[in-house]
Amino acid sequence: MSDTSFRWLHLSDLHFGMKGQAPLWSNLKHHLYDDLPLLFQQSGPWDLVIFSGDIVQKGAPEEFHGATCALKELYGKIADLNCYPKFIAVPGNHDLVRPDEKDMSAMLLKDWHSRPEVREQFLTEPSSPYRKTVKSSLANYQAWYESLSDAGIPLLETTFGFLPGDQVGCIERNGKQLGIVGLNSTWLQLNKDSKLGDLHVDHLQLSTILPDAEGWCRDNDFNLLITHQPVEWLSERNLATWKKEIAPPGRFDLHLFGHMHEPLSSSLSIMGSSAVTIFQSPSLFGLEHLADGSSQRIHGYSAGALSNSGSDRQLRIWPRTYMVSKAGQGRMTPNHEFILDDNVSTITSLPRKIATKSTSAIFASPISSTALNPKAEEFVATSSTEPQEVLGRFRHHLLPPGPHAFVRKVEQDTAVRALDNRCLWIVADWGLRVRLETHADRASRRVSSMTDAA
Ligand SMILES: [Fe+2]
Repeated sequence: MSDTSFRWLHLSDLHFGMKGQAPLWSNLKHHLYDDLPLLFQQSGPWDLVIFSGDIVQKGAPEEFHGATCALKELYGKIADLNCYPKFIAVPGNHDLVRPDEKDMSAMLLKDWHSRPEVREQFLTEPSSPYRKTVKSSLANYQAWYESLSDAGIPLLETTFGFLPGDQVGCIERNGKQLGIVGLNSTWLQLNKDSKLGDLHVDHLQLSTILPDAEGWCRDNDFNLLITHQPVEWLSERNLATWKKEIAPPGRFDLHLFGHMHEPLSSSLSIMGSSAVTIFQSPSLFGLEHLADGSSQRIHGYSAGALSNSGSDRQLRIWPRTYMVSKAGQGRMTPNHEFILDDNVSTITSLPRKIATKSTSAIFASPISSTALNPKAEEFVATSSTEPQEVLGRFRHHLLPPGPHAFVRKVEQDTAVRALDNRCLWIVADWGLRVRLETHADRASRRVSSMTDAA
């Protein structure tokens, strides 16, 4: 089976326009550009440039204009590598313009968690004043995003939701598909007092762009989720919804975000669940002013890849960080805060996917052709000298045996005994399939399967 990889460059928290940034960025960007060819050699070619929010500092149009210029320069450097990735971004809290403190809607939105009537109106009425306040705070961001194509930044083609930043798109190659979902996690951070646990991402944000998110994600070979904030910033109640309805274990292969300015990754399986894997991007330009008057700078970025070889699925992240020598010379290097398996990247094995697309594709054809032409089914079943090949096509897609394997054991044993002398037509039954797997060797006669009675 051929290898298929999807690869990206991940940037976050540029904060373009931040006070004191201009002279520092004009120096730093050259170290970024110096590093790109090396990182490209290790992790390219990139399909996508992902920007997980806080592109600018205060959401002002002139800041967005400056960010566009910076992006164009970056894309020029990437084009020098003969690489032409698509671009996708989600907004961060610095990309919105905070509403006036006396704005009544903004004041009521501040009480989101204790006002069900505000939640109801916001989520169900497109013309509600709450929706208008949020959209207006993100109007500059939205205008910027819509201007990028004209500026020569190749946007990933996506379907948008009811909030700026909510979008879904995909990249297809060699019959494989990467799904990309961006969600606006910042729209409720409308005032400077917002803190950990205050935010909300509604499941309607996802279901608006993906009415069947679970089915769509299952049909893709890989799925990425992008937000600005980590889930710790959601309210406790919303976090429970997030885990069940938005990003349950196994739906997305990787959740990318920024906001915290420090890099972090984890892959966590709870009580045997599929692992939830996250990567928190460092800030591309983080400048923290500390209480003692000093400042701290954090600069970094990363590349990533999702790939499969046969049924093995893998995530690699190349984390980069800006280091300055004692002499004052700076450069981007691999970030050795991470355990870098090959000295440049982290390597994480991903859980196997629950296949729905391939299963239906494989099952649809034999069943429909049997119904139309019974002889065709007979030919398939009897012409093979290796019946395991026939059965293997089905067995490969079955889930591991569960407690239902022991249901209707009498009927199962009767069915298995019947395999000794005759062809067995199987009536769809939860308990039968596991026994047939177990006794596949004995089933080296003529076995056909149908979903209704013989
Ligand atoms: Fe942020």
